[in-house]
Amino acid sequence: MKIKTYSEEETIQFGKNLAKKLKKGDVVAFYGELGSGKTTLIKGIVSGLSYKKPIKSPSFIIIAIYQTDFPIYHIDLYRLENIKEIDNIGLLEYIYGDGISLIEWAEKIEGILPKKRINIKISITGKNERELEIEGL
Ligand SMILES: Nc1ncnc2c1ncn2[C@@H]1O[C@H](COP(=O)(O)OP(=O)(O)OP(=O)(O)O)[C@@H](O)[C@H]1O
Ligand SMILES: [Mg+2]
Repeated sequence: MKIKTYSEEETIQFGKNLAKKLKKGDVVAFYGELGSGKTTLIKGIVSGLSYKKPIKSPSFIIIAIYQTDFPIYHIDLYRLENIKEIDNIGLLEYIYGDGISLIEWAEKIEGILPKKRINIKISITGKNERELEIEGL
């Protein structure tokens, strides 16, 4: 599925709707350049999953956990330099656990991601325009 959004708010709203289709254990891999809107879309998804507090990008800490009826793992691998760091953080236990994992810069750990996952590729197609391509939902 491919759709376009024309504002940050529209991307957040799309994320809220997308959240209704997610279930415990799902892994969503986000691809797209800096500033494409990965965190923005995740904000919408997390809010759609009934987490009401504000969220921001966990860039410096790699993972933020939002507790709802189940945990949501917001993982941002932008600063990950070496796949070996993954062991130290215990990332696989989160990704293969019972929560929902939302992973920015997923290409950095492509090889260890479950094959059964949802991929979302965001492209910048204009100043406020983004193309979202969703696979596996
Ligand atoms: N249609 C749109 N959808 C989402 N964001 C948009 C849109 N149009 C403009 N923007 C802007 O693009 C930026 C997206 O930033 P965001 O932090 O979500 O990107 P990101 O992909 O997470 O970047 P990073 O790789 O740095 O984590 C925001 O400043 C937002 O206002
Ligand atoms: Mg981000």
